Amino acid sequence: MEIATKFYETKEDLRELDNKSLHQLIKELIKKQGVNSLVEVGCGNGVMLSQYGNIDAVGVDVNKSMVEFAHLYDKNNSVYLEDITNSTSFFYQSKKGSVDVVCANYVFTEFTQKQLKKGFDNIYSLLNDTGKFCFTITNPEIRKDILNNKVSLGYVIEPVEEFDYKKEDLEFKVLLDDGLGGHKDVGIIDYHNPTKVYISLLEESKFKNIKIYELNNGTDLPHALLFEVGK
Ligand SMILES: C[S@@+](CC[C@H](N)C(=O)[O-])C[C@H]1O[C@@H](n2cnc3c(N)ncnc32)[C@H](O)[C@@H]1O
Repeated sequence: MEIATKFYETKEDLRELDNKSLHQLIKELIKKQGVNSLVEVGCGNGVMLSQYGNIDAVGVDVNKSMVEFAHLYDKNNSVYLEDITNSTSFFYQSKKGSVDVVCANYVFTEFTQKQLKKGFDNIYSLLNDTGKFCFTITNPEIRKDILNNKVSLGYVIEPVEEFDYKKEDLEFKVLLDDGLGGHKDVGIIDYHNPTKVYISLLEESKFKNIKIYELNNGTDLPHALLFEVGK
């Protein structure tokens, strides 16, 4: 495993930076490897899909209202209501073994280990033999700093039990900025798992050449990790 630090270091807004880093990496893959087909998992409103140029780029999201919202703007009908942990859908079966790149921005912290295992297995099968899987997650190692307000990512977290780095599948609420100086619960539940859990689940799903880039916005505390893995 290769750890590359200070990837695309910049002072820009963190969410922008993460999106840019993931999509910059994909744009490089498109240039280097002649990518023709891409699936974005948890694509939300699908806004990034049009950024990849002239390739077959489709998105899936499990949230119905998100997909309906995406359809308001998505002229190409490229966003599908799909759960990536389910391998029985027509979408999944029709794409199996054919995809060059699967990507996901801030999706897998919403998954328990069991869901991660299913999702990673399904993504592995979606990819063709030279396919790549790239995704960002909040850096699990800085959760304590978010909790203690040492790092501000625009939200606060509320664990259901005492927080510990080493805990696995630790459930917590993500409370968003309410614009009035407080935070509101909009029903987002995330799970904390140490970084090594993501690595071992990827390996269990047979992924190889795991590279992790730390996104640090020029500070000592990388707030996010960008994974690039192959088959
Ligand atoms: C934090 S949002 C990130 C959205 C978008 N990628 C972005 O960067 O703005 C996570 C997204 O993952 C989606 N998601 C969660 N579980 C999923 C699953 N099992 N299959 C597909 N999408 C899922 C959620 O509905 C949500 O839209």
